[in-house]
Amino acid sequence: MKRLAFLLLCLCFPLAWAGGTAAPKIDIGKGGQCVEETQWMRKNHMNVLKHQRDEVVHKGTREEKHSLKNCIECHASTKDNSVTARADSFCVACHANQAVKIDCFECHSNKRKSAWMQGTGK
Ligand code: HEC
Ligand code: HEC
Ligand code: HEC
Repeated sequence: MKRLAFLLLCLCFPLAWAGGTAAPKIDIGKGGQCVEETQWMRKNHMNVLKHQRDEVVHKGTREEKHSLKNCIECHASTKDNSVTARADSFCVACHANQAVKIDCFECHSNKRKSAWMQGTGK
């Protein structure tokens, strides 16, 4: 009995440790391949978005690849078409963990286009 408890402790400890330090649970969405390398995007997505916004708003040049709509087409959950609806939704999962607050979706749709075209989203 003692031996079993010891064995369980050895087996479970590394699992608990991995769970505690691993990245938050994220619903990646549709899948495919990101517009840039994943590791790089993890660190730089905010700059990509800010740059894209400046290009569109100040210079009037629009490139679909880095548009916010394009991100949402892929990253909205396949369950509810949203990037913000649940705790593991793509655009909120990491931010909650890091205490980052973004206001983007007060103006921009948080839903995949096909969803708001059907009138199910905003
Ligand atoms: C064609 C689909 C697609 C598009 C468009 C896309 N992504 Fe991605 N993105 C992915 C996939 C799939 C992954 C996960 C890759 C992996 O886990 O290896 C990913 C990963 C990421 C990550 C890192 C997630 C993590 O687990 O660390 C961030 C951040 C990100 N994307 C942001 C964006 C932003 C911002 C945009 C728009 C500028 C965007 N993506 C556009 C498919 C896409
Ligand atoms: C007060 C409303 C408002 C807020 C808040 C806001 N935006 Fe925008 N954003 C706009 C408007 C209006 C445009 C220009 C619309 C267009 O031409 O597509 C725009 C354009 C953009 C574009 C370029 C167009 C596109 O679809 O790629 C990006 C990228 C963008 N915003 C990202 C963001 C991000 C990221 C945030 C949050 C940090 C944010 N915005 C917050 C109103 C807002
Ligand atoms: C893999 C985790 C992760 C995912 C997924 C993610 N973010 Fe972030 N985001 C972060 C982190 C971490 C920061 C803070 C970085 C810092 O403080 O330098 C951040 C910061 C930002 C900022 C800048 C906030 C500020 O105050 O300057 C914006 C804008 C942003 N993210 C937008 C998005 C959008 C839109 C999505 C969904 C398409 C998204 N993020 C998905 C981790 C993530």
